[in-house]
Amino acid sequence: MQMKWTRKSRLVKGMVHLAFASILLLLWSQDVVSSVYPTNIAETIVDVTDEDIIFSEVSQTKKYVPSVLYEILGPLSRSKRSMHNEYARSDLVYNRMRVLHLMLKYLIGSKGPEVEIRHFVNWDKTILIDNLFYVRPTNIQQVQRIIRVAAMMQMRVRATGNGYSRAPLYPDEGNIMMDVRDLARFDGPRMELIKPSSKRDYYTVKVMTGVFLHELNTFLVNNRVAVMAEPLQNNDTIGGIVSTSSHGSSWNGTGFGDNMVEVRMIDSMGRLRRFAREQHPELFKSLTCGLGLFGVMYDITIKVVPTKVVKVENKIVPLYSLLYNAAMFGQTVSNNLATEISWYPFNSVNKSETQEYINSGKIPDEWSAKRDFVWLRTINEAEMVNQSWIQGPNFLPTGGSLSGSNVTGLLRGKAALDLARSLPPVTYHYLTDAFPYLKPPRFGSETSTAFMITMDTAYRRPLAAIQYIIEFTERQIRSNGTTPINALLPRLVMNSDCHICPANSNIHPDNSTGRSVVIDFLAPPSQDGYYDISREFIYNFRGDLVRPHWAKRYDNIPGIMDIIRDVYGIGIQKFVKSREDYTLDPCDLFMNTFLQQIFGRSRIC
Ligand SMILES: Cc1cc2nc3c(=O)[nH]c(=O)nc-3n(C[C@H](O)[C@H](O)[C@H](O)COP(=O)(O)OP(=O)(O)OC[C@H]3O[C@@H](n4cnc5c(N)ncnc54)[C@H](O)[C@@H]3O)c2cc1C
Ligand SMILES: *[C@@H]1O[C@H](CO)[C@@H](O)[C@H](O)[C@H]1NC(C)=O
Ligand SMILES: *[C@@H]1O[C@H](CO)[C@@H](O)[C@H](O)[C@H]1NC(C)=O
Ligand SMILES: *[C@@H]1O[C@H](CO)[C@@H](O)[C@H](O)[C@H]1NC(C)=O
Ligand SMILES: *[C@@H]1O[C@H](CO)[C@@H](O)[C@H](O)[C@H]1NC(C)=O
Ligand SMILES: *[C@@H]1O[C@H](CO)[C@@H](O)[C@H](O)[C@H]1NC(C)=O
Ligand SMILES: *[C@@H]1O[C@H](CO)[C@@H](O)[C@H](O)[C@H]1NC(C)=O
Ligand SMILES: *[C@@H]1O[C@H](CO)[C@@H](O)[C@H](O)[C@H]1NC(C)=O
Repeated sequence: MQMKWTRKSRLVKGMVHLAFASILLLLWSQDVVSSVYPTNIAETIVDVTDEDIIFSEVSQTKKYVPSVLYEILGPLSRSKRSMHNEYARSDLVYNRMRVLHLMLKYLIGSKGPEVEIRHFVNWDKTILIDNLFYVRPTNIQQVQRIIRVAAMMQMRVRATGNGYSRAPLYPDEGNIMMDVRDLARFDGPRMELIKPSSKRDYYTVKVMTGVFLHELNTFLVNNRVAVMAEPLQNNDTIGGIVSTSSHGSSWNGTGFGDNMVEVRMIDSMGRLRRFAREQHPELFKSLTCGLGLFGVMYDITIKVVPTKVVKVENKIVPLYSLLYNAAMFGQTVSNNLATEISWYPFNSVNKSETQEYINSGKIPDEWSAKRDFVWLRTINEAEMVNQSWIQGPNFLPTGGSLSGSNVTGLLRGKAALDLARSLPPVTYHYLTDAFPYLKPPRFGSETSTAFMITMDTAYRRPLAAIQYIIEFTERQIRSNGTTPINALLPRLVMNSDCHICPANSNIHPDNSTGRSVVIDFLAPPSQDGYYDISREFIYNFRGDLVRPHWAKRYDNIPGIMDIIRDVYGIGIQKFVKSREDYTLDPCDLFMNTFLQQIFGRSRIC
């Protein structure tokens, strides 16, 4: 990298001058949005001491002027990355970034934040961005400065938390990633319990979006309150969880964001805006799964409920009795406070069958998926509990990758089930601590795909979907001795009227239980058949209006954009309309090329 810089330094110097000149020109010709805002916007603006006088009047241009990067940017998608000339293009982006870097540093000034050029890899190593600008603001003025400078330079900014998403929700190459984890609140603590009042007759918690779920959980437990929507790991941020409508697995639990009653966020003009669900119910139908497209969320206020002490029970049950039996399945999911079901394929082989498989590589004739077992974890309110029994949060004893064990190949299913068998049959926790958290895989990487389908009252749709995955897997094990997935984790979420939430009450409302099943399955991204099963699944259940979890792996499925657009239909239009109505991002500052394929370009700018 240093070498490249030296060789090209003369060229770069020339470009810097040119670029500064064009910036000045841009500033000068800037069509400033009037500072007299319509009343409905004005009342959402929160006053923050703003030191950046020179920027305070700079808003966004009305005309769309592409940045110097625009024509060489590739979409943030994996197909593009395999193209032969990808390296050359990426080099070109990098060279222009060196120039932009100087300009960004100059315009942001000494009060920061620092801007770095970084290579980005997400948690499961399935998204690689060759180079982007990385900033990690610590106060709101720094956030405002970045946004205003980016707007001036026609660059795009996307907020991120811990990078746990598997979908291309990140900034495009050459643009700005704003890591919000160190952002401090200017008018209070990072987490605050708010007592019921005349405004809201229930407890709420105000939390900065960069706070990790495990930090929030500790705070909730200490204050004896809970949120009934607990994802399967606690190391992601509140902002990431809300933006992607992350969820737990309970009959009465919605997506996490559905509990949000108030939010403050920085819009694309750098203004801090405040919205409450009571006053802006329509906007909240978008914000609870906003995908980062409405601004940089600063803090959110969520509704909490008194915590319960719960009893967690681990059971190993025959797969056939639960997943091929509508009555049993229905009773299990609807009668327990929370339910986690895991199937690890090929887990019922006995000692001699295992030996035979090791010796010959042959799948025993007697094996079938229906003969396998599932690990059923149920969580319910405990009756009388001795305080000393209450345990804190536990990590799953995975000892390897997410789906279970450190054994590789087909025998991992059995090893994973053995780990589940080794768990204590009963433990007690406060509600938020009752969920088994996941550690990162020790070997390689494992990704996850999750599709939602509305559960009908006869449980026909959820069981058909679950059985499809089981039988597809069984066929590949039989025919090829390999498995397309390492784990199937059917989960459930209560539907809401949020426009683009996958657990969506506007989709298939007839005979609906008001809940969706989540068909979540895990495998290393390169595992044989993993892409095939995702693709076959979504096309097979298209008629049942299947939709992907926004944060998981689906962008590799051909035609997925059409499927997403079709399934949400008018929901997408309403989502787009609320972006326009509240003037949060008129010029697509928070957009990326992946999401633009779904939501389109701004019609205002
Ligand atoms: C091991 C593992 C287990 C998981 N388990 C579950 C589960 O049980 N249930 C479930 O539903 N999901 C689950 N997920 C998915 C996870 O909840 C989401 O990917 C979540 O978005 C991750 O949060 P993050 O902090 O890493 O956000 P990131 O992935 O860094 O960001 C996601 C997106 O959120 C937006 N965003 C983040 N912060 C802000 C902000 N302050 N303002 C505006 N936009 C913002 C941006 O659009 C960003 O691109 C799991 C993921 C992993 C890796
Ligand atoms: C949680 O995330 C942090 C920051 O990315 C990381 O350093 C840490 O190892 C993670 N912890 C677990 C248990 O995954
Ligand atoms: C779900 O909520 C309803 C209404 O509050 C309650 O009657 C029911 O028992 C709850 N069910 C479960 C499984 O928690
Ligand atoms: C294992 O299963 C086979 C059938 O595949 C059966 O014949 C054998 O008796 C079983 N062995 C044990 C130890 O259970
Ligand atoms: C609670 O459990 C602890 C440890 O099991 C025991 O010592 C104690 O006597 C119990 N207390 C009551 C009130 O049962
Ligand atoms: C795999 O896990 C088992 C049980 O958790 C452990 O005993 C064993 O040492 C592990 N093996 C390796 C290679 O890590
Ligand atoms: C079958 O397995 C082999 C390797 O064992 C692999 O190359 C091939 O792609 C697999 N076929 C299918 C359909 O998964
Ligand atoms: C809903 O259930 C009723 C009674 O079981 C049935 O007659 C009807 O066809 C169902 N409707 C749909 C859309 O499934």
